[in-house]
Amino acid sequence: MSIVNSLSPRAVSAPESGIVEVVNYARGREGLLPLWVGEGDLPSPEFINKAAMDALAGGETFYTYQRGIPELRQALSDYYARHFGITLPVEHFYVTGSGMQAIQIAVQALTSPGDEFVYLTPSWPNIAAALEIAGARSVGVQLQFEGGKWDVDLGRIEAAITSKTKALFVNTPSNPTGWTATREDLAAILALARKHDLWILADEIYARYYFAGDRAPSFLDVMDGDDKVMFVNSFSKNWSMTGWRVGWIVAPPQTGQVLENLIQYSTSGVAQFMQRGALAALNEGDAFVQSNIDKARQSRDILCDALISTNRVQTLKPDGALYAFLKIDGVTDSRRAAIDIVDKTGVGLAPGTAFGPGGELFMRACFLRNPAQIRTAAERLCDYILKL
Ligand SMILES: Cc1ncc(COP(=O)(O)O)c(C=O)c1O
Repeated sequence: MSIVNSLSPRAVSAPESGIVEVVNYARGREGLLPLWVGEGDLPSPEFINKAAMDALAGGETFYTYQRGIPELRQALSDYYARHFGITLPVEHFYVTGSGMQAIQIAVQALTSPGDEFVYLTPSWPNIAAALEIAGARSVGVQLQFEGGKWDVDLGRIEAAITSKTKALFVNTPSNPTGWTATREDLAAILALARKHDLWILADEIYARYYFAGDRAPSFLDVMDGDDKVMFVNSFSKNWSMTGWRVGWIVAPPQTGQVLENLIQYSTSGVAQFMQRGALAALNEGDAFVQSNIDKARQSRDILCDALISTNRVQTLKPDGALYAFLKIDGVTDSRRAAIDIVDKTGVGLAPGTAFGPGGELFMRACFLRNPAQIRTAAERLCDYILKL
């Protein structure tokens, strides 16, 4: 038996990320415009960095609370009051080592062997991978694509529910499609969950990146206190903190001890000095988040208007999240196209093959970047597309 085959089959069958594969192919090339991963071009702002550095200098280098320092949990509660109009006591909040780890902990908390999770595809690949690694079966339900717009078919979700279904995983606004559930969609999905006694695992990390209003509709707008909904979220995108790896969970307080234990047996809590940075982000970062949202909107318009004007790309401007998900006439193999595009234009795109069923023919471009760079990327891409 080879060494690899003697590892856990679940671990061995975890797929290589199709996004990382292309990034590794062309990482660090001169003149590269990297629109392939979901992050912007700005480093974290000074006031956030300084709060973390001050905490380090002040000796905050010890073990800390598993659930998060009390000030940060209170700041999360205040954040939801400010931006979601809802009062949630601190017992609802758990600080995690990234949004990804929030997903991992939530999935661990919900999964028994053989459980199925229904999720919507095309989807960020880490969701299905995290489910499978935890021993759940990920059951993809495709969003529908018509006239450049993505939509959910609730009948298909209900048809995918079996006696083994444990939860519905809903990412809205969606990476990579930009599909954003309406309040009515959310109410209908919640009704399905209630009818079949399922959990909802809600990934609303892009809720603030919504271009048709103040913020995207949230399950918080339609649920009652005793609904089984767990939210995963992250500091990564709003506050330009992707490299920090800090996120959070919002969950019913009754789950608190279980979540605390799972955090104890994984990271044993997020470094306290990093939590001070996250605290500054929440307490002093509203203007910074707004400037990121404004930039994303402007760059989305530049990129999408240019590409749509070629008449060779099927897409509409997405209402939410940070991505243009492009169906380019003539592209039949998005993995090969991503390699060819980065070779010929120096623009890094993520291939749709990375995002599961329904995404194969698409290319994803992240537009959280300064408008001048996005204009250059759009010009190069249009040039390429018109020669296809
Ligand atoms: C839908 C979605 N959820 C969760 C995450 C995790 O974010 P992070 O681990 O950087 O906090 C991402 C990152 O791209 C994402 O797109």
